Amino acid sequence: MELPFSEAYKIKMVETLRRSTPEERQKWIKDAKYNLFSLKSEQVYIDLLTDSGTGAMSDKQWSEMMLGDESYAGASSYFKMKEAILKVTGFDYFLPTHQGRAAENVLFSVLVKEGNLVPGNSHFDTTKGHIEYRKAFAVDCTIDEAFDTTLNHPFKGNVDQEKLEAVLKKSADKVRFIIMTLTNNSAGGQPVSMENLRMVRKIADQYGKLVVFDSARFAENAYFIKLREEKYKDATIRDIALEMFSYADVMTMSSKKDAIVNIGGFIGMRDKELFRECCTFNIMFEGYITYGGLAGRDMNAIAQGLYEGTEFDFLETRIRQVEYLGNRLIEFGIPVQQPIGGHAVFVDAIRFLPNLKKEEFLAQTLAVQLYLEAGVRGVEIGALLADRDPVTRENRFPKLELLRLAIPRRVYTNNHMDVVAVALKNVFDRRSDLKRGLKIIKEAPIMRHFTVELDLA
Ligand code: F0G
Repeated sequence: MELPFSEAYKIKMVETLRRSTPEERQKWIKDAKYNLFSLKSEQVYIDLLTDSGTGAMSDKQWSEMMLGDESYAGASSYFKMKEAILKVTGFDYFLPTHQGRAAENVLFSVLVKEGNLVPGNSHFDTTKGHIEYRKAFAVDCTIDEAFDTTLNHPFKGNVDQEKLEAVLKKSADKVRFIIMTLTNNSAGGQPVSMENLRMVRKIADQYGKLVVFDSARFAENAYFIKLREEKYKDATIRDIALEMFSYADVMTMSSKKDAIVNIGGFIGMRDKELFRECCTFNIMFEGYITYGGLAGRDMNAIAQGLYEGTEFDFLETRIRQVEYLGNRLIEFGIPVQQPIGGHAVFVDAIRFLPNLKKEEFLAQTLAVQLYLEAGVRGVEIGALLADRDPVTRENRFPKLELLRLAIPRRVYTNNHMDVVAVALKNVFDRRSDLKRGLKIIKEAPIMRHFTVELDLA
């Protein structure tokens, strides 16, 4: 008999979880104004809000924490991180930042000017926020297949060549760089193929533009390339990652994902002049260039995490757990983005709740229902997150309304995944009883989903 698949690690430390009652959850979610970001974590049983900064560090990472060098300038931890970045990504120059959006803030302070266009595959919300804050525009050139959740395409993170070229043909003077998000978080944790990255590089070269990778989940992207692009089936994750990055001039990184740490980020660069320009902003926003908002111990843990996060056995355990949850939902007939992504299962709220109007924030409605059912916290990737159009101030209703169930790395077991699956099935079984979605009571002008206040519509 073939041995079943199991985790590539064992558990050394545990944290107690508390289950709550439906009555408690009713009160808590109402007090939180139906915004799951406003819940206290102890009011949540299984927290799938994000896979960012929520992973379990390894014994080796914790050992590295003890070895951290807390010097303001020139800490040995900085050099340890520098070496890991060079080995794993190939970038010579780097600046540490306290997280991914801080890397965006520093880099975009140099690269983004008012009126610019920034084409790419679906931009993450903080990326879009940092672009729009500078009165520039993010242009989503993702392939159309990504927006049909029933279609099984191996690389739904890809950019559409024609869409990208159309932007460049029309407005090359407004474009400084193309940004590729690996994996494409907003489209469902979907990977970008090596072939697509090569194509983007070629087009960028034709027009003399830079290529920036938003690399939060680059290792998961490399895993999918290994599994789905024939040529890479025998390549190591490290070799694939190095080739991926060879097509970029700059990378921004949220280390809270694929470097499996609780805080941290960085910018990787090849150009010394760009590095110099970024240094000034890094010092202003983040701290001196050899710590950038991080403690020495954090930099040590990132270095170790970059090595662990690019090991095949770890990635296989991680991505197969996400797939396990996805498959359970599919068995129950629940509509999800297919194929299942790297870090999360994305439930299609439009197909889940066909009776409700999109103006009533379908994915948020579903997120609230799942919380009420079992204390499981997911996150809306839909109209709330899409914000209003910066010019017309009208609500933007994206093609996809998704409830994202993001799985923290090395944290939950498949028993937890079963609870999530059955809880969502119970909501699915009573979906026709749901008559009311949600309406906005109060919102911020940008990135409103974090603080929005809602009520029943
Ligand atoms: N880019 C991508 C693709 C991301 O998913 C995130 C964060 C960032 C940049 C920003 O990084 O959080 O370290 O500042 N994503 C988290 C999420 C928050 O839940 O998907 P950060």
